[in-house]
Amino acid sequence: MHVTMTVNGEQVSADIEPRMLLVHFLRDQLRLTGTHWGCDTSNCGTCVVSVDGAPVKSCTMLAAMAAGHDIRTVEGLAVDGRLDPVQEGFMQCHGLQCGFCTPGMMITARALLDENPDPSEDEIREAISGQICRCTGYTTIVRSIQWAAKHSTEEVQA
Ligand code: FES
Ligand code: FES
Repeated sequence: MHVTMTVNGEQVSADIEPRMLLVHFLRDQLRLTGTHWGCDTSNCGTCVVSVDGAPVKSCTMLAAMAAGHDIRTVEGLAVDGRLDPVQEGFMQCHGLQCGFCTPGMMITARALLDENPDPSEDEIREAISGQICRCTGYTTIVRSIQWAAKHSTEEVQA
């Protein structure tokens, strides 16, 4: 079947198998390998992408279901090579170790801050509660998102 969707601001069209998951479409067909695939049980959350501004596990969605929607992956966070405050926050606060969970964490953080620019620690922890990090103990991830909440895009990209 033929699908058309917007990915990181650009319209893409492709012929796909109806059973293809969005995570595989992004990684294998578009070569956007920043979105990771970490489990077969929809538990890890490393595959999270933004669908019309909401964080969605891309392994739980068929690529066909994304047709006509606006998809944003971690590759779409930086603008003209300048980091999003979330990316800068993860760098400043050491929000990653191996980095495997990081793309999904960043996409969820961006969606949270777009909806709630000044989240409490509990709200941050709740937002990322569907995503697993084996390395950090989550403390530095929370700090990174708090850092991003305190710094505007203009400030970071100046
Ligand atoms: S790959 Fe693990 S939740 Fe999607
Ligand atoms: S940094 Fe390794 S899984 Fe999160």
